[in-house]
This record gives sequence, C-alpha cells and structure tokens, in this order.
Amino acid sequence: MLCLTVPTDPAWASAALADLDAVLADHAHCEMKAASNALSLAARHPENPSIVLALTDLAREEIGHFQEVLAWLSKRNVSLGPPPKDLYAASLRQARSELGPTSLPPLVDRLLVAALIEARSCERFKVLIEVLTAESLVELRAFYTRLLAAEARHYLTFMDLAVKAASGDSPRVEARLREFARLEGILVTHLARESSRATVHG
Ligand SMILES: [Fe+2]
Ligand SMILES: [Fe+2]
Repeated sequence: MLCLTVPTDPAWASAALADLDAVLADHAHCEMKAASNALSLAARHPENPSIVLALTDLAREEIGHFQEVLAWLSKRNVSLGPPPKDLYAASLRQARSELGPTSLPPLVDRLLVAALIEARSCERFKVLIEVLTAESLVELRAFYTRLLAAEARHYLTFMDLAVKAASGDSPRVEARLREFARLEGILVTHLARESSRATVHG
C-alpha cells in the first residue's frame, strides 16, 4: 500500500506462521470490529445517504469475512476466545489528537483511520501469503489472497468517502492521510518491539 510509511518487520511473518491459530482468532475479531466500526460511522451520519449505503455494504462484507474466518477456526478446532486488546486501532484513533486541529469535518479523520487500518491489513495479508507456501496451507493461502484484494478495495472505498466528506478536496485529504500514515508507522514500529503476539496489526 503506497500510503504506509513503514513495512512490516520480517520477524512478524515467522511469528505468524508459527502460530496461525492465534492469527486467525485475532483476525476474526478484526473483521467483527471492522463491521461494527463501519455500522457505527453509518449510524452517526444519517445526513449522508451515499456514505450510509457504502458503509453498510462494507459492514455486510466484513461480517461475511468474519464468518469465513470463524469457519477456518472451526476447521482447525480452535475456539474464538475473547477479543484481545486492540492497542493498534485504539492508538491510531487517539493519534487524531496528536495531529492538531484541522478544518476538515471530523468524519474525514475517522474515514482516514479506517482506510489506514485496511491498508495495514492488506499489507500484512501480503506478507502472510508469502510464507504460506506449504502444500497443506494452499487453501488458507487462497483465502488470504482473496481477502487481500477485498481489503485493498475497502482502503479505496474509505479514501473515496473521505474525499466526498471533504467536499472533494482531495489534496487536503491526501495531506491529512500522510500525517496519519507517519504516526501509524511509528506505532507499528513500537508495537513490533513491545509485542511478541501473532496478531494482524500488533
Ligand atoms: Fe475484511
Ligand atoms: Fe475491510
């Protein structure tokens, strides 16, 4: 993803491959949170029918992803478990206060944070696919290849909605995205040092 400022540490791929069950359980929660975040954004902006429609479509797709990951967990006899602490998304949302004021509507920032989360998921899936080379993992590799394409499309959807929410001011939206992406890079580097867990974003 062009907007990301820091690539995933190669050590993440080995940690993920060593504990695919943990990645899948975390991934399932990520899909559920993606759906619930999209619905919550839609509910807060009833004045904008095109945004409500796009976000509810996206939420429906994320729920579908959630159910697919759940099926993978069941196939591997792994229980979903409670949602892990999501420092990544929480810190990214807090990053808004570090960026200082903007005259863009608050919805733009929320859409940009969602776009970045999609971009990082997409990048992580690409890194994961590269290590899912064993014959026994062919189907899982195909699944993540399909999801990678879907999350890349979601990134574009959120960017498109952010530009719409900013009344078409694409240069300012892109500048704001670059600011968020810089902070996201710092956050990802920090989390890679602090956490040894195999999670989608940690
Ligand atoms: Fe998804
Ligand atoms: Fe997504």
